[in-house]
Amino acid sequence: MIVSVADYAGFCFGVKRAVEKVEELIDNGEKAYMLGPLIHNSQVIERFKKAGINVADLEDIKEGNVIIRTHGVEPSLIAQLNSLNLNIIDCTCPNVKRVHKAVQNFSDKGYFTIIIGEHNHPEVEGIRGWCGKDVKIIENVEEAKNFYTNKKVGIVVQTTQTEENVEKIMEILGKRLDIASFENTRCAATQQRQKAASELAKKVDIMLVVGDKQSANTKNLVKVCQKAGARVYHIQTAADIRKDWFTAADKVGITAGASTPDWIIKEVIFRMDELNKELNNQENQNELAKQ
Ligand code: F3S
Repeated sequence: MIVSVADYAGFCFGVKRAVEKVEELIDNGEKAYMLGPLIHNSQVIERFKKAGINVADLEDIKEGNVIIRTHGVEPSLIAQLNSLNLNIIDCTCPNVKRVHKAVQNFSDKGYFTIIIGEHNHPEVEGIRGWCGKDVKIIENVEEAKNFYTNKKVGIVVQTTQTEENVEKIMEILGKRLDIASFENTRCAATQQRQKAASELAKKVDIMLVVGDKQSANTKNLVKVCQKAGARVYHIQTAADIRKDWFTAADKVGITAGASTPDWIIKEVIFRMDELNKELNNQENQNELAKQ
């Protein structure tokens, strides 16, 4: 069995930057609260908790450092944090901030804003907070077909969306609405990871996609790999891998979401190496038994 890792897999620049900021706090012996998990990876968040960096609700934070997650937050929340004299450590990814600026610009121009993205996802909720009152979240083709406004429209995209979903939705909106501006704000890291995962998935029998079940970009990697024709398993850690998945597989690919740390990817590669040896030994024994 040949095991290959996608060219781009694991931590993106925005997640790396955020994790480094929190690690710096830990190294300096400082305590801090996270307003929601910094990134969607429960193993990383558990490590932070052990070092005294806990997830908390705003009403429970009375003083000290408060960390804004990579997904960003709405401006009213930042104002609230300032009014409480909390020390804000802003880990919002600059690519998400770019989306905040774009929607502010739309509302300054009087456009109706459409966000192509997932309902209830923290990044999308944060972006919505930077829009005026005219805003609609469109997650899929059905919702695109059912939406209409006669106002001029500005469109942005949740950073982790798949190209396919954006294209399908835009095809419908393009025919129905007066689109004044479309900013395709899928980030470079998403594009690189999805492209590399798709290329690898076309060449292998099985793809292992490593990442948290809450992670939007990881779930989209699963979709991209399925579309490319591979059998896909979404795993969170090496412990989720099952030997029987690989009995008839010659080629296996590995990719990982932008919030999956290197050490989890390395453990997966190590486990696959072990499994390979076990499966080879089993095959040799079967051959010997036949002779
Ligand atoms: Fe930022 Fe894109 Fe990563 S928005 S946090 S670089 S997935």
